[in-house]
Amino acid sequence: MSIILWKVLVVHLTTVIGFSCGFRKNPWDNTEIPTIAKYFSTKGRYEEVNPYLIEDILAVNRSILQPPSAQCREIHLTAIIRHGTRYPTTKNVKKMQRLYDLVKSRATGKESWLREIQTQWTMWYTEDMDGRLVQKGVNDHKHLAVRLSKLFPSLVSEENLRGGRVKFITSSKHRCVNSTLSFKAGLTELWAIKDQEFDHAVNDALMRFFDNCAKFVNEVENNSSSLMELDKFKEGPEMRRVQEKIADRLRIQYNNITDDMAEAALYLCAYEFAIKTVNSPWCRLFDEVDAQVMEYANDLKQFWKRGYGYDINSKSSCILFHDVFSRLDKAAIDNRSGQQVTEAVTVQVGHAETLLPLLTLLGFFKDSEALKSTNYATQTQRSFRTSHMLPYAANLLLVLYDCGAGDLRLQPLLNEKPVTFPLLAGQQVSMPLYEDVKEHYRELLQGCDFENECQLFKHPA
Ligand SMILES: *[C@@H]1O[C@H](CO)[C@@H](O)[C@H](O)[C@H]1NC(C)=O
Ligand SMILES: *[C@@H]1O[C@H](CO)[C@@H](O)[C@H](O)[C@H]1NC(C)=O
Ligand SMILES: *[C@@H]1O[C@H](CO)[C@@H](O)[C@H](O)[C@H]1NC(C)=O
Ligand SMILES: *[C@@H]1O[C@H](CO)[C@@H](O)[C@H](O)[C@H]1NC(C)=O
Ligand SMILES: *[C@@H]1O[C@H](CO)[C@@H](O)[C@H](O)[C@H]1NC(C)=O
Ligand SMILES: *[C@@H]1O[C@H](CO)[C@@H](O)[C@H](O)[C@H]1NC(C)=O
Repeated sequence: MSIILWKVLVVHLTTVIGFSCGFRKNPWDNTEIPTIAKYFSTKGRYEEVNPYLIEDILAVNRSILQPPSAQCREIHLTAIIRHGTRYPTTKNVKKMQRLYDLVKSRATGKESWLREIQTQWTMWYTEDMDGRLVQKGVNDHKHLAVRLSKLFPSLVSEENLRGGRVKFITSSKHRCVNSTLSFKAGLTELWAIKDQEFDHAVNDALMRFFDNCAKFVNEVENNSSSLMELDKFKEGPEMRRVQEKIADRLRIQYNNITDDMAEAALYLCAYEFAIKTVNSPWCRLFDEVDAQVMEYANDLKQFWKRGYGYDINSKSSCILFHDVFSRLDKAAIDNRSGQQVTEAVTVQVGHAETLLPLLTLLGFFKDSEALKSTNYATQTQRSFRTSHMLPYAANLLLVLYDCGAGDLRLQPLLNEKPVTFPLLAGQQVSMPLYEDVKEHYRELLQGCDFENECQLFKHPA
């Protein structure tokens, strides 16, 4: 036991040291990367949470996985993955267009970045782009597929794919279906498979559960008071200061830069970077402090709309929660009864809105205080940071190990980095017994009934 603890400590130390001085060149020195890129929340690039990928997009480090003994074998992987990089939605394209029109017609100033926006930059986003997957998003999933095959070679293998032991499930949204196709293409291209095609199932009940949860739709999604804390923050001193600083940089009257305009400016910087990998002149409208305030506004939104803000947010994912555990159980039973595990890998492609409620239900990234409009200053060290949790192609990986004699272990990873089940955090176990995990989630496993949680008016039992 103490050896395991020591190993965990060493792993953490080497990670910290590796990240602070391991790079030959600091990736942030690269002028192509906006200094504010790490605050883009759900519009962020996957490489920002794993900077080593900037140098080698196919790099993996298998030694991050530390099974407790040499005989441990991976028997199942469930990967719940957000779609890759995408175009802005129609609504956001409209917001960006309004800001662009304002800047083009009203902004005065001699700075070269401003002139670049006014004379060289063109508004190339159109409403029909409608959140579609971009080429970078295709690559996000192709590369992730290849990395997972290197990280879990016995599971994400040609043999398992050909043998039908890799299952694909996706949300019906075009960006998710295309991400799924890209993930598959990553594997078929890797193994040069041309003689076989692989199915995927479209399942919105599982991957877009939030649409089908009446209580969530009614009380949160379609409720103008549910985002009260966000609304107050947008009116508050921190956001006002950001808007004034943008107005100053553009030499436009303060009241012409609304919170929507500030949001659109951040989108312009974020999309130009995510889609084209350019550090666009729009990024000059923010300094790092401004970007942190904008990030907080986004975190507030996600916290109240998909996270800990309301209990129903996480409960809406009960259906996915049960699906995941029944899959793990099935693999455990298959293995124990001496059969080959019939589903070695499950790849499930959905949305940030799919992942966040599930992460919340599992208890990840929970701070002691709720995110509020008034506690920006005391929340600077919060763990609830969507920029870290939910970039494009964000993924929750659950790896089931058999360590011999029925000793099953479950390793969770978020964005390819090991995380600790929050309820087990006190024990510092990075690869806990599967039975212990189930024991910790016992109440949810016995309850958390989607139909029951999501109905508007609960009938007495
Ligand atoms: C891989 O991870 C291990 C453990 O975290 C670390 O010691 C090692 O330096 C890493 N190797 C590379 C190439 O990053
Ligand atoms: C997605 O895939 C479909 C079918 O392969 C294709 O027609 C479409 O152009 C793709 N769209 C994107 C990039 O979102
Ligand atoms: C809308 O949200 C507010 C704030 O959480 C809550 O008090 C109210 O009951 C909700 N409305 C509905 C219809 O659920
Ligand atoms: C949302 O609320 C409005 C009234 O506030 C109602 O007309 C509409 O039907 C609701 N939509 C859904 C999907 O519940
Ligand atoms: C800017 O603000 C002024 C004063 O409030 C207002 O008259 C004008 O219409 C605004 N312009 C834009 C483009 O919003
Ligand atoms: C069950 O898992 C173990 C790895 O711990 C493996 O050796 C064994 O072959 C598996 N059984 C089957 C039938 O797949």
